[in-house]
Amino acid sequence: MKVRVPLNRASRLLNHGPTVLVTSFYKGRPNVQTVAWNMPLDYAPPKVALVIGSDNYSYECITKTGEFVINIPSQKLLEKTVQCGTISGRKVDKFKKFKLTPIPAKKVKAPLIKECIGHLECRLIKSRVTKDFDLFLADVVYAWAEEGTFTDRWLIEKEKAKTIHHLGGEYFTFPGKIKIRKW
Ligand SMILES: Cc1cc2nc3c(=O)[nH]c(=O)nc-3n(C[C@H](O)[C@H](O)[C@H](O)COP(=O)(O)O)c2cc1C
Repeated sequence: MKVRVPLNRASRLLNHGPTVLVTSFYKGRPNVQTVAWNMPLDYAPPKVALVIGSDNYSYECITKTGEFVINIPSQKLLEKTVQCGTISGRKVDKFKKFKLTPIPAKKVKAPLIKECIGHLECRLIKSRVTKDFDLFLADVVYAWAEEGTFTDRWLIEKEKAKTIHHLGGEYFTFPGKIKIRKW
């Protein structure tokens, strides 16, 4: 079951730099692409930044509709996360091909991916912030986490809350120990 994450905590879904699956909905069907280069930009109201290559079909889907969802996969989804990042959705329905389940979002037409553990529904502020960079900025308008994976932080000590982190190329890692340091 998905539970709402308060918007002033949404930045914490991305704070530790997980690789994500970005969904869009264009011309009557959903698409999904893998994105390692993403970051929170502000707490409240929350904003995010991500790089979407201009050759990608997602670039067209998102610029045309102004909406997308950042879905956060757990380590269980590593294989599908790589697969969604190695073929284009221009001609292939990646949801069907890789057996991912689209479920309705609350505020945008792009779907959540049921198998993921975190979701940020986003509305585009600006695509291609400058002509030299494929940098997208967006407002987060609703956020979710899978029940039992997130309180005011990811419960990364639980197997089901371990996110995927891209080291580059074929290398990936998953979160290890949690350390609490009061300040
Ligand atoms: C681990 C991984 C991370 C990736 N990170 C990014 C990224 O940050 N930005 C980007 O534009 N493409 C990234 N890609 C590549 C896209 O996901 C890939 O080009 C995808 O096929 C585009 O799909 P689309 O044409 O359906 O939009 C990544 C791929 C992998 C495997």
